[in-house]
Amino acid sequence: MQDVVGSAWETSLKGKGYGWAGDVRFLRRFRASPYIQLILNYASLPQNGLILEAGCGSGKFSLAFASVGHRVVALDFVAEVLKGVRAAEQALAGKWPGQLWGYCQGSLQSLPYADSVFDLVVNEGVIEHWLEETARLEVIAEMIRVTRPSGVVAIIVPNGTHPLIRFWEERLVGFRTAPPMTHYSAKQLEAELSRSGLQEVYTDGIYPWRSWFRVPPWDRLYLVGAALDRLIPLPRVLREQWAINLLGIGRKG
Ligand SMILES: C[S@@+](CC[C@H](N)C(=O)[O-])C[C@H]1O[C@@H](n2cnc3c(N)ncnc32)[C@H](O)[C@@H]1O
Repeated sequence: MQDVVGSAWETSLKGKGYGWAGDVRFLRRFRASPYIQLILNYASLPQNGLILEAGCGSGKFSLAFASVGHRVVALDFVAEVLKGVRAAEQALAGKWPGQLWGYCQGSLQSLPYADSVFDLVVNEGVIEHWLEETARLEVIAEMIRVTRPSGVVAIIVPNGTHPLIRFWEERLVGFRTAPPMTHYSAKQLEAELSRSGLQEVYTDGIYPWRSWFRVPPWDRLYLVGAALDRLIPLPRVLREQWAINLLGIGRKG
């Protein structure tokens, strides 16, 4: 079946590739962020665990997981994107621990792996671009298929029900240039992961405070949001309402 989402991304990234992840200071901060730490805490991966990032973009998730000792395969539909990740990895040589274990050009609709291979299959900013629920469930099922029993599937999407989502979509370049998306709530993400057969499904919201400081002129106060995220934890229900991104995570039975 034609991969319309992969093709739409290919068109939108043509000649540009994805963002650059070759900056050690940025990667150190990113590795310490909830994006990585929530997943590692939940997953309790074996040493040297095998991870697939399916739709890797800049490769920052892959590089962060590799640096704590895991074997990571970075997969993307777009060849140019993978070239960018390779270049970032080369630029980081000798400065950043851990290399990627493999690269793969492929489609999330039909991952080029046998069943039950990976300890963790993860992506951020990808699943929401399939606009029909049946298509999303098929893609999630494909991620689960290549995950080993008791392994973990983690999906991160934009918070589609944030009170400011329309402003973000109008004013932030990342939203404006990406293909259209499903507006996920935490509840919907949890329901789709559970319906796909994952167990122990957990959702959370990432960066609830700084979500209020993304769009000009408020972005000048972004560091205030970052400080509030560090200093004033919110209950999960508020984290999920105000988050920039939603994490949904579960285990294969
Ligand atoms: C929003 S970006 C991911 C950003 C990434 N999480 C990061 O941290 O930089 C989405 C990525 O998914 C890839 N992608 C989109 N559809 C895909 C598909 N059907 N199969 C594999 N990769 C896909 C795109 O090429 C793009 O690189």
